[in-house]
Amino acid sequence: MPKKNFYGLLEKEIGRIDESRTSKRDEKVISGFSADKRALVGGKPYLIFNSNDYLGLRHHPAVKKAEMDASERYGAGPGAVRFISGTMQVHKDLEKTAAKFHAREDAMAFSSAFAANLAVLHCIIKGQSRTSLVGADALVISDELNHRSIIDGIRVAGLEKQSKAIYKHLDYPDLERVLEENKGKFKRVLLVSDGIFSMLGEAADIGKIQSAADKFDGEYEEGVITVIDDSHGVACFGATGRGCEEATNGKSDIVLATFGKGFGADGGYIAGDKIMMDYFRESAATYIYSNPVSPGTAGAANKSMQIVDSPEGKQLLSRLNANLSHFKTRMKEAGFAFAAESTHAIQPILIGDAAKARLLTDYLFEEGVFVTNLSFPVVQKGRDEIRVQISAAHTPKEIDEFVDKASKCAKKSGIL
Ligand SMILES: Cc1ncc(COP(=O)(O)O)c(C=O)c1O
Repeated sequence: MPKKNFYGLLEKEIGRIDESRTSKRDEKVISGFSADKRALVGGKPYLIFNSNDYLGLRHHPAVKKAEMDASERYGAGPGAVRFISGTMQVHKDLEKTAAKFHAREDAMAFSSAFAANLAVLHCIIKGQSRTSLVGADALVISDELNHRSIIDGIRVAGLEKQSKAIYKHLDYPDLERVLEENKGKFKRVLLVSDGIFSMLGEAADIGKIQSAADKFDGEYEEGVITVIDDSHGVACFGATGRGCEEATNGKSDIVLATFGKGFGADGGYIAGDKIMMDYFRESAATYIYSNPVSPGTAGAANKSMQIVDSPEGKQLLSRLNANLSHFKTRMKEAGFAFAAESTHAIQPILIGDAAKARLLTDYLFEEGVFVTNLSFPVVQKGRDEIRVQISAAHTPKEIDEFVDKASKCAKKSGIL
């Protein structure tokens, strides 16, 4: 049977992945959380330093209650896609909260930020249907280190090679060079970037991106449209948790993010002008043909966003920042180097060797600490790191525990 050949191919592929020691499928299974919010794996408690729950909101009593209340009221699932009978008041409330949070006319919730990227990029690049009046004459300009969901969003649009351009990572003069070189060649430009880049915690400068877009807007018949995916930035970065836009004084046409990181819930969303949202509600495939988040999740996300937008949110953000400076001071004192000077909750510790980085995370796991090592091709060769993610939910004592254990394990693995 020829199918056997395919299965044989899969076996070889899995063998290749396992040999390269880049396998991801042997996931650590969390069976619950201890009273002090350590993850229980195989009955043992682990301190988590690799979660995107930057404000600790996933365990917030009011967020969990909002989830339960919405489930009680609407049921566990949406029952249908949005335009059939899957739109509950809780989804509309969530979108209203998101629009207000980002000071935009309207917002839309998606099942994930990945799903939002897939649909939104396609709709701006090409229109989603054959009958759409939105033509396909667009150039996409993307930061070279954009997230996989952006890359796939561009890929599914099935563009010709000449309709895609990449500028050097965070290099805005290079972005302007690309905009200049393509004047007159396309009707419109879609300019897309991550907000926070998750490998090193670097922040895109939305002010500079938007001023490049504004400068060249008149050079293209349908202008330059900006989309910023700030999934790691919102509910974490900027004075009130509005992410890179707030921190760098800029405003994109569409802000896209997840409820599954700093907000501690799940699902994705976009916010922007009403006409854009109207167009996406008519055209975005992952919105129209795929279920929204469950009512419970929408209720939790709505409550989280309201908390971030309150005095309590400000307190959580200042606790996160206090934890960050405590962590940085202690790690520097202990002799660790940083792969980048990040002011975000992502703190990359430079190890510079793949085997040592792996050994360090293995030793730390034995010591009851969860943390992630990153190596090529995710980061440059020789820039192997352990990516530490700090949360407002950490106590200073837990950060001390992390630093002490990391020092001990780094000595054992020949790093310090
Ligand atoms: C920039 C960026 N966009 C999108 C996503 C995906 O978010 P979600 O889990 O909501 O699909 C991530 C998460 O890794 C991300 O870092």
